[in-house]
Amino acid sequence: MKPVKVGVCGLGTVGSGTVNVLLRNAGILKARTGREIQLTQIGARRPNPACDTTGIDVTTDIFEVAANPEIDIVVELIGGYDVALQLVKTAIENGKHVVTANKALIAEHGNEIFTLAREKNVIVAYEAGVAGGIPAIKALREGLVANRISWLAGIINGTGNFILTEMKDRGSPFADVLKEAQELGYAEADPTFDVEGIDAAHKLAILAANAFGTPLMFDKTYTEGISRVTPDDLRYAQELGYRIKHLGIARQREGGVELRVHPTLIPESHLLASVNGVMNSVLVQGDAVGQTMYYGPGAGSEPTASAVVADIADIARLVDAPSAAVPPLPYSAGTTEVAALP
Ligand code: HSE
Repeated sequence: MKPVKVGVCGLGTVGSGTVNVLLRNAGILKARTGREIQLTQIGARRPNPACDTTGIDVTTDIFEVAANPEIDIVVELIGGYDVALQLVKTAIENGKHVVTANKALIAEHGNEIFTLAREKNVIVAYEAGVAGGIPAIKALREGLVANRISWLAGIINGTGNFILTEMKDRGSPFADVLKEAQELGYAEADPTFDVEGIDAAHKLAILAANAFGTPLMFDKTYTEGISRVTPDDLRYAQELGYRIKHLGIARQREGGVELRVHPTLIPESHLLASVNGVMNSVLVQGDAVGQTMYYGPGAGSEPTASAVVADIADIARLVDAPSAAVPPLPYSAGTTEVAALP
């Protein structure tokens, strides 16, 4: 079988991790998918010493990647909205499958992107956008496909959880821990997205669309961040036998789905209370299986690349028959009304 050709756009934290995983694990990926996955071109403004691109065609024009007739899959890892949206739409228009880690793009423009992808019969995959390396979307879409989901709750922002953990354990000041998270490559380009709950709301909207069959409803999500949580709050909560965690919660209600992200008191005996540092976790209640919980690194170079490459591998298995693919979009069960909290 001919190789599946991949173009990676963006060579930052996740882009360099993706290049490294694709190259290092090329053999295992071929064995598991039955296809050679060939990194054919990289679109990046500048090289990144965190990965070796020797022998790979590198262009500074990402739109060259989206137009490259050889390429089957365009991987969008540049982040942001405007250029990323234009890149993804151009790739789809050109008949390319798309993999992205850009939850902001999917949460805010996904309805438009998926409509276009349907018209062009291509796949848009975004596992890496939610909970980093945890296969949370695949769990909802595949492992839990037989279940009616009544609610899900999760710690879905690694930076925020890292900050709360370090503030509690070491008494470190908020600003110092945020800086550390930025240096580790966990934080968003605009870290207010992490600390004001916007990043978690993006991810919750995507999880909920997959769990409940609703359209993406980021704009209807009640959103509160961690910027007003103080070390005293964390200490008092601990004295009372609780932890403060920033949760995203989606719940089926009569007449709609409620979506909210905010700091939450959790009994210290609860499993979510022991999810610390950059780790994320998603807890899901299904009618057949009961509760299942998914845990792992929610940010970082190779943990996120693990999910990007998983999406590439999925598409590689299906590239000649995309219409038979795992649906590229949240399924629609006709639920469109929302009951967000005030
Ligand atoms: N800034 C995000 C986080 C990156 O900290 O969770 C991964 O989505």
